[in-house]
Amino acid sequence: MIRLPLTAGPVTLRTWRESDHEALVAEANSHAVWRNLTHMFPHPYTADDAAEWIGRCLEEEPPRNLVVARNDRLIGVCGIDLGEGVSRFTGNVGYWLGEDHWGRGIMTVAFAAFLDYVWETFAVERLQAEVFAWNPASAGVLEKNGFTREGTRRKAIYKDGELIDEWFYSLLRHEVR
Ligand SMILES: CC(C)(COP(=O)(O)OP(=O)(O)OC[C@H]1O[C@@H](n2cnc3c(N)ncnc32)[C@H](O)[C@@H]1OP(=O)(O)O)[C@@H](O)C(=O)NCCC(=O)NCCS
Repeated sequence: MIRLPLTAGPVTLRTWRESDHEALVAEANSHAVWRNLTHMFPHPYTADDAAEWIGRCLEEEPPRNLVVARNDRLIGVCGIDLGEGVSRFTGNVGYWLGEDHWGRGIMTVAFAAFLDYVWETFAVERLQAEVFAWNPASAGVLEKNGFTREGTRRKAIYKDGELIDEWFYSLLRHEVR
């Protein structure tokens, strides 16, 4: 059984606290972050959005969304949505990091730790992620963690006023060392 918090290079992955509210608004209220996520991620990201999100996360057992923290302060999130019905052994994984922390290899190592947690905690056989084709950094995070690009859905996404391609990635349990 994997125990939280997890250490991943310069960051830790831990469960949520009410006190993450201020940092969550500060890091999430970003056009650059929003631009790479689905419509479920609000913009602007308000205090109410943060309160609702933290309230939901505090109820998760086992936790499906973890705080990525640096010096104990939230700088991002890693999460999994579990499939249902015929997709019950599939998990959709996602992550984001506040813009000030990009480009230092942080999510590559944080997501690696999150994957260890996911494989141990959830009865999933397949993890998948979708990446907007203008987001090579996210593709890098997935590829460095062993994900395979399965294909492209052409012009499947409309975001920030543009129609763009979407890349599909997956990793199967038996592919993990
Ligand atoms: C995607 C995101 C999490 C990446 O986090 P990060 O900590 O900056 O990523 P890393 O520094 O670990 O970079 C991952 C790899 O991507 C590649 N990469 C990074 N930036 C890149 C760029 N601009 N162009 C091409 N490749 C890039 C590199 O291979 C890099 O590894 P390396 O430089 O160590 O060899 C961050 O940019 C983010 O939060 N973006 C907004 C939200 C988002 O896109 N979430 C994912 C939705 S699918």
